[in-house]
This record gives sequence, C-alpha cells and structure tokens, in this order.
Amino acid sequence: MMKKLFLAGCLCLCYLGSFAQTILTPETIDAVITEMTVEEKATILVGEGWGSVAAGNAAVSDNIPIPGAAGMTRRLSKYGIGRIIMTDGPAGINISPRRGDDPKTFYATGFPVGTALASTWNVPLVESITTAMGEEFRDYGSDVALAPGMDIHRNPLCGRNFEYFSEDPLLSGKMAAAYVRGIQSNGVGTCVKHFAANDQETNRAEADSRMNPRALREIALKGFEIAVKESSPWMVMSSYNKINGVYAQQSHDLLTKILRDEWGYDGVVVTDWGSKSGTVDALKAGNDLMEPGFDYERDRIVDAVRKGIISMEELDRSVRRVLSLIVKTRSSQKLPHSDNPNLEAHSALVRDSAAEGIVLLKNEHQTLPLSNAKVALFGICSYDMIAGGKGSGHVNRPYIRSLVEGFQNDGYELDTAVSEWYGKYLDFRKYDSAVRSASHTMNFGDDPIEEPDVPKELIKRSVVNSDIAVVTIGRNAGEAADRTLSKGDWFLTEVERSMIQDVADVYHSAGKKVVVVLNIGGVIETASWKDIPDAILLAWTPGQEVGATIADVMTGRSVPSGKLPMTFPIDYLDLPSSRNFPYYGNDSGEVDYADILMERNGGLKKNVDYVLYEEGIWIGYRWFSTVGKGVSYPFGFGLSYTDFEYEKPVVRANGNGFSATITVKNTGNNPGKEVVEIYVKAPEGGLEKPFVELKGFAKTRLLLPGESETITIMVDNYSLASFNESVSAWESASGQYSVFFASSVADFRAEGRYRLRNKNSFPVHKCLLPQEKINVITIH
Ligand code: BGC
Repeated sequence: MMKKLFLAGCLCLCYLGSFAQTILTPETIDAVITEMTVEEKATILVGEGWGSVAAGNAAVSDNIPIPGAAGMTRRLSKYGIGRIIMTDGPAGINISPRRGDDPKTFYATGFPVGTALASTWNVPLVESITTAMGEEFRDYGSDVALAPGMDIHRNPLCGRNFEYFSEDPLLSGKMAAAYVRGIQSNGVGTCVKHFAANDQETNRAEADSRMNPRALREIALKGFEIAVKESSPWMVMSSYNKINGVYAQQSHDLLTKILRDEWGYDGVVVTDWGSKSGTVDALKAGNDLMEPGFDYERDRIVDAVRKGIISMEELDRSVRRVLSLIVKTRSSQKLPHSDNPNLEAHSALVRDSAAEGIVLLKNEHQTLPLSNAKVALFGICSYDMIAGGKGSGHVNRPYIRSLVEGFQNDGYELDTAVSEWYGKYLDFRKYDSAVRSASHTMNFGDDPIEEPDVPKELIKRSVVNSDIAVVTIGRNAGEAADRTLSKGDWFLTEVERSMIQDVADVYHSAGKKVVVVLNIGGVIETASWKDIPDAILLAWTPGQEVGATIADVMTGRSVPSGKLPMTFPIDYLDLPSSRNFPYYGNDSGEVDYADILMERNGGLKKNVDYVLYEEGIWIGYRWFSTVGKGVSYPFGFGLSYTDFEYEKPVVRANGNGFSATITVKNTGNNPGKEVVEIYVKAPEGGLEKPFVELKGFAKTRLLLPGESETITIMVDNYSLASFNESVSAWESASGQYSVFFASSVADFRAEGRYRLRNKNSFPVHKCLLPQEKINVITIH
C-alpha cells in the first residue's frame, strides 16, 4: 500500500513538474520566454490601460496601486510576473494626493522644472537633486519615472519647454544624464522623453517634423545620444510626432539603427501615451512597450505574429527587453515602500538648490542683495506664485511658498498696506469659482491669476513706507498647447507694463529702487522694458519653495549663480525657427491655434500638419553669434554678486581630444560661484559651422572673496565633429581649434588652442532622410 502511494505521488509530481511554470527571475528570462504563448508575449508588450487623472489624462481609473500613476504593465501570475508602475515627472512624482477616504495625504515635493535645473549648469547638483526626487518615486512605490523631458528648445513658444533643458544639445544631454543617474541610484528607472523632435505641442500627435540629417543629428538627437551613452536610462519614450514622414514610434531608423545599433542602447522603448494604429510597425521598428495599452493592441500583435508579419525573433526580442526591465524593478523584487518620503528634508533641499538656477539678469548699482530694507511687493504672483508647469509635468505638492513668506522667513519687514490690498484681491478671485476653475485645475496645474490694475495712490503711499519695490511677473504653460505670441504670454500686458512703469516712476523719483522678478516657465520678451527696473531676477518656476528661494537670493542668504540655458532674443522674429512655428508673423498676438486648425480646409497645413526645419542647425546662439545679431540676453549669461577673474588657461592634447584648465578667482566683495563655459571655434576647411559651439562647462564651488579654484574640462574629438550629410559621417576637420573660456557666449575671458593633426571621421547609418530635401537658410 505504502509503495503504491509513493509511486502515485512520484507520478503526480512528474506530471505537475512537466507543466509547472518557470517563475521570472533575472536568470530565468530566456526559460520564461520559451514557455510563453504568443498571447502571453503580446500581453507583456501592452500596458494595462490609462492611469488616473492626476497624470494629466482624461479617461481615468483609480483602480491602480498608486492613484495618479500614468500607467503600468500587465500581470502574468503564472510566471510570477507582477505589474510595474510608471509615474510622471519631471519636477517630482505626479500622483494623487488623496486616496478615497484615507485621511492620509500623499503629497510630493515640487522640485525645480527642467529649465531651472539646466540654469544651474551644475551637473553634481542636478544629480543630488534628482537623487532626492528619486527617493520619492521609490517611497511611493513607483518603478519608473517618466522623466526627464529633454527635447530641444527649438522655439521659445513650445508649450513644454519648461520641462526641457536648453537650446543646446550638450547642456541638455549632460543635464539629462545627471538626472537619470540621480533617479536611478534609488533603484527606480527613468524614461527619457520625447524621442525625438517633439518640439511643439500644436498638433503634437500628428505633426511631421521634416528636417535634414544634419539638423536631426546635431540638434534634435545629440542630447539624447549623450544621455543614453552616459547614463543608461531604463526606458526611452518614443514621441507622438512623425520625423520625415514616419511616426517616431514606428521608425526603425530611429529606434533600431540609431538608438540601438549606433548608440548601443539595450533598454526598453515605450510609446508616448496614446494608441496609434501602427502597433505592428511600432513593434517591428524596435518599440517594445505600448502604453497606456489597449486589448486591441495586444490582438494586433498576436494577429501579426500568426500571419508572419512579426517574426518570433522580433517578438521575443521585445519581450526579453521588457522582462529584463521588469526584473530590475523594486515591485518585482517585492521591496516594500514607505509611502512616507522625507518631504521636510526635500523642501529644504529645494529651497537652497533651486537658488542656483536663478539667473540675475540685471543688477545696476548693486541693487541686490538687499540689506535690511523694508519691501513693498507688487504683482499678483508675489502672493500666488508659480512653482511648476501644467499637464503631466504637474506635481501635487503640499504648498507653494509665496514671496511674502519668503521675506518674512528671512526676517524682512513688508509694506502691509500693499500686501493687504493684494490679499483682498486674491481672496476675491479665489472665491470667484468661475474665475478660479478656469485658471486652476487640481491635477494639471495653475495659470497665474489675472493681474489687477494697481492704484497709483497705493504706490504713492507705499513709497513713503518702503525702501524698495519688488514687482513679480508670472507666466505658466503646459502640455498639449503652445504658448502664444500675445500680450499676457510672450509680451507683457498693458496692466503689467504700466505696473512696472508706475512703480518705477514713483520709486525712482523718491531715489528708491525697483526689482522685477520673473516667475515664468519660458522666455518672454524683455527688450522693450528691461531698462525700467534697476534689477531683474529670473527665477523660472523653481519648485514649491519658490518665494523662499527668491527671497533668499534677494537678501543674500543664497547667491545667484544661474546662467541662461537659452537665448533671450530682442524680437521673436529674430529667431530663424519663428518662420516655421505656429505663431509666425503676428506680433499683436491675434493668431490662435483654433484659427489655424480651421484654416486647414482638408489640406496639409504648414506648421500644424508638417513643420519644415528650415533653420537647420541655426538654433539659438548658434545663429545669433554667427550672424552677429544682437540679443536681449545671450546664451550662458547670468550675473553674480561678485566678480571673477580668469587666469592663464592651459589647453593640452591627450590623444583623444584635449583638456582645458583654468583658475577662476573671486575678485569681488561677496561670495559667488562661476560657471566656466568652453566654446570651440573650428578651423576653416571643414563643414560650415557656427561661429562657436559649447563643448564643455563646469561650475566652481562657492568661492569667498579672494578664493580661487582650478577647473579642468575634458573635450573629446568626437564631440568636436559636425555631421556631413553627403557621406553620413561625423567629421572633425584637422587644424587649429580656438578654445574660449567664457562667462557667456558673448563674454570670452581667455583663449587657448588645440591642434588636431588628422581629420577625424565617424561614419554612421544613412537613414531617417527627408522625403524632399529641406531648404535650409543660408548664412552668408
Ligand atoms: C505625455 C508624456 C507623459 C504621458 C503619461 C503624455 O501625454 O506626453 O510626457 O509621460 O502622457 O502621462
């Protein structure tokens, strides 16, 4: 009897054994793939549906582990495969602060937006900020941060520029790489986005970015190339738009030839959130994961495999990548999360570190820093400040610190009559629900409240009681719409202009000064009014401590050391890209997206359905410095409370490029940090190049008066190269390169030389070509 039972037991175990499923671990990925059916494989490549409304989406469900998450992958329990969760960034984790009846709140820190991070020009600082940010993704149980955003600031009116870093691909790439390293140091993945050339929000899901290979390689892709090579993000998000006629998500040239073959990327490519009909093309192109994911996308994949359109090899390749991502995640490793990030420590970090991204644009007669002055605060945004942008990049932070609180924290007295007047207006607007709901959406972020017409009497009374006036101008922007060339956006409104002028007239006639604070997400017109105030502080939208960060800089608790990551032109139409952007040609601001769409009449509408990148590589300072056109503020510019002297430079060849070394000395009377920017001018004889290009940068530590620091910056020959379309190769001409050590693109402080003996050539795929050559503007 016992023997029979034993035998039966063995048989049973053998039977079970032959059907037992392999459980997914890093070692069993191939075994699991061998066991999976086609349906199961397709299931792993398609997400589980829309996340929830806090992620900026319209169709929603809170039936997900982290309410507010943007999306997730699907479970396959038989292999022990759980869901992984993706949440938006880039200025902090975007989740819902409330969960049903739970009395606990789930706020997240509002960190500085991408543009503010880039303005620090401080790679280690950005890495430490995003390390803290990554802790919050980890502590809330998110597996992947859908960040950083890193498209190029091709045109200042792009509605999502605040999420992105710069007009320059080197600065963008270095910032993105630091960002990725910081977040990923927590065991949380990143997803660099939106790959690629997603440079406008108008018709963002369909617009065709048409450009020549050189602009594509040198401007649109270069930053991504740097980030991918230097930081290995777990994911890359393919953008909605087309590039040269093919959706980025379905471009084999982009996702396989360039991203994987040339750059060696081995992570997952995920679609931006949507559902294009070309699921099968996307998979074949190298796009592994469809998000947010719909059943019909899974069916399409299964059907295409059955018909032999997708080969098993292609299917398995993407499944392997997604499974390799899943096993890396904290969810998959069943690591607990606290739901309790250290918000207090992160507030302090944001307050101090965001100050490094504040750019001092003007500071006549040392208006700043203040010393124990009584301050009158004008402008509604002094009281209701803007911490970050709108859309999926919004963060549900616990509070936004106003400038009033900021000054009070620093022990400064304010003109209460002015504060009370604005306080009453603010209360009135906040209670006026119709007005408030138009400007405020819980999960998408805020527009500034309409600026009130400040009574002249109030200004006159305040000048008697106050030593200095601060006027804050606010702007916000966000996903799905571009900014406008209008008053209230690119231009000041009449009310804002008169406010600055009236306050300045009254204060100046009393011998007192006026500071304008710009609490804005992107470039605005400054040339027509910048002469009026004594000082201008560009604060961007620097996170939830905005008022404290700004007050700290104004009072000298922090020092300003930010530099511009883009050019501020005198006139919008000075920008070559303005010829091919939705808001070309009407500086009264009357053009509007709805009108443009209505004008379409069925045909393809320029700048809406397709965009010609006729500016080629001539973006930002590359254009202005080459043609010698004046700007309002140049790329790389930013003042300090002190002065720096650049001592004798040393440029040394090292076989693969050169090192550039310089000692910077604080020769002024206040502490300060200096960004040293390395611009290189190529020798004649190669391709036509910009006058100079940024090839490296570094920031000093805080230097006290009299202190100095020696900085060395490495530049390699590959990064000196430009793209030769005729042979599809990166080339650097032989000869003598001028190496400028600069404080901005318009302020070279020292010069060295580098001789490249032999021309270098780095051939790459000839791909992603335009259907018709784009006529790029000529310079000479
Ligand atoms: C945005 C992405 C975002 C995704 C998920 C899309 O609309 O373009 O940046 O990550 O939604 O919320």
